[in-house]
Amino acid sequence: MPKRIVILSGAGLSAESGLGTFRDTDGLWTQYDLSEVATPEGFAADPAKVHGFYNARRANCLEALPNAAHHALAALQARAGLEVTLVTQNVDDLLERAGAHDVIHMHGQLTRALCAGCGHRWDAPRTMAPEDPCPACNRSATRPDIVWFGEIPYHMDAIEDALFRADLFVSIGTSGEVYPAAGLVQEARVAGIPTLELNLEPSSGSALFSDARYGPATDIVPAWVAELSGADRAPS
Ligand code: OAD
Repeated sequence: MPKRIVILSGAGLSAESGLGTFRDTDGLWTQYDLSEVATPEGFAADPAKVHGFYNARRANCLEALPNAAHHALAALQARAGLEVTLVTQNVDDLLERAGAHDVIHMHGQLTRALCAGCGHRWDAPRTMAPEDPCPACNRSATRPDIVWFGEIPYHMDAIEDALFRADLFVSIGTSGEVYPAAGLVQEARVAGIPTLELNLEPSSGSALFSDARYGPATDIVPAWVAELSGADRAPS
């Protein structure tokens, strides 16, 4: 029975809550040009368009509810004797709304705003606009607190610290296309940590995992959590 688990999640975890994934056939990157809405250059060229994209994501997120997979992960984290670090590429707050705590949002959060001028962060209003002033410096350089392509993901030191103390690394609902998140499985392997993929289908890095289960997150995540609970109760 593992005692220290690091769980990386991606858009597939929230897909059944009604939030779109990025690279599936109906994914967001088939509907929007990534370079226009998810890069610093795109924001510099048309901040209103970028705010519009994230305002729509924020509205979807506010309407969505955590699903059975979010609840199962929150329950796993609450179990006595287990240290579960939840790392997510997702910018939604569905893990927190399921009761999870200290979620590491490596790609930022829709619920937060960032001043590109002074670095101040605050709770994002429902709708953001380029002319919104920063509450700290009053400049109109407000952006969503989201990590864009070409920027460095947040909290990498904390993620690596947790990974190198872990005795299991689990990847849930991510295509394994975006680094550095996609490289965590390889780091875990090199460190000799068992790795498990839980995804709808094999991801591009699936061969790197020592174990895998495939299916919708709302089925396979609660089933895996229940299996761990069973292992915990089994006589050793
Ligand atoms: P992707 O859209 O790249 O991948 C979603 C993964 O979830 C795919 O492997 C799907 O097969 C799987 N999936 C879909 N529905 C599922 C379900 N119901 N249950 C389980 N798995 C399911 O999304 P991410 O890997 O999260 O970054 O994308 C990584 C990053 O790329 C995002 O954080 C975002 C994006 O561009 C930025 O915007 C910086």
